[in-house]
Amino acid sequence: MTNNKRPEQMARIDNASLAQKFIQEQIAAIKAQVGDKKVLLALSGGVDSSVVAALLIKAIGKNLVCVHVNHGLLRKGEPEQVVEVFRNQMNANLVYVDAVDRFLDKLAGVAEPEKKRKIIGAEFIRVFEEEARKQDDIEFLAQGTIYPDILESGPVKAHHNVGGLPEDLRFELVEPLKFLYKDEVRVVGKELGLPDNMVYRQPFPGPGLGVRCLGAITRDRLEAVRESDAILREEFAKNGLEGKVWQYFTVVPDFKSVGVKEGKRTFEYPVILRAVNTKDAMTATVEDVPFALLQHITDRITKEVKGVNRVLYDLTPKPCGTIEWE
Ligand code: XMP
Repeated sequence: MTNNKRPEQMARIDNASLAQKFIQEQIAAIKAQVGDKKVLLALSGGVDSSVVAALLIKAIGKNLVCVHVNHGLLRKGEPEQVVEVFRNQMNANLVYVDAVDRFLDKLAGVAEPEKKRKIIGAEFIRVFEEEARKQDDIEFLAQGTIYPDILESGPVKAHHNVGGLPEDLRFELVEPLKFLYKDEVRVVGKELGLPDNMVYRQPFPGPGLGVRCLGAITRDRLEAVRESDAILREEFAKNGLEGKVWQYFTVVPDFKSVGVKEGKRTFEYPVILRAVNTKDAMTATVEDVPFALLQHITDRITKEVKGVNRVLYDLTPKPCGTIEWE
């Protein structure tokens, strides 16, 4: 049985030299575990899978096969950044899978939130399985499991752990971060040379923008979510709120309202802004965003995002609202 308890004597990794020590120890442990065999990793571009990738690239180079599935529900610029950082800068063995049409076709007409989540999860496993079958000689599966996942303390991570693969693809696991807390993973990621916007990313749900494009996902509303989210993130970064606010994003519901633009009547979608602070995601308070900034973001979104004529700010704490809308 594998040991899943963090060793009591393990020091909290809160500085560069402890991170370096951890990295060297893990490189040795990974080499000892996998030898010259190949390891497969589902690389979402989130903090944990990115840090696992960077660590394994250092340990075994091209024997790590990273599979990045673009399911069309990622934020603006994310798939491109995964390719840039891992393939171009770190010289990784990266398989990029454009599965956008496949996911959106499967999701077409499906409005029920849990059904949407299930379809996204199941399709992800299917795409990953197909890619795994194309590879020869894989014996190990790396996963970005971290200690809170083992402690089961939060609604995290269905997306990293590729459980649910068929019997013949149950590889031996490589989980180098399994005793680390999130802040330690970030310190290690920074030491491994990952960019700040990858290491200090806000949490992002596995089903991605799929739970922020409410009801049955359509391409026009999905683009509105992606573009408005990019504007919100850009403005929060410019105005010193990035890294200060725990989670912030936009939501596009599946109804329209009447508006007026350039003297003409419009019938378009609203964008809802959400910005919350929390310690453990079980309860959350709403960020007191300066009104002038909300006005500026509203102005940009209504001018720059196609099909949008209104912007609303969600003032609801958790409880009674959840953080996400679906
Ligand atoms: P809620 O909406 O339940 O969200 O208040 C709490 C935290 O969990 C994230 N979240 C998810 N993460 N898969 C994930 O990996 C999901 O299906 C999912 N749903 C919510 C949410 O973004 C927030 O940080």
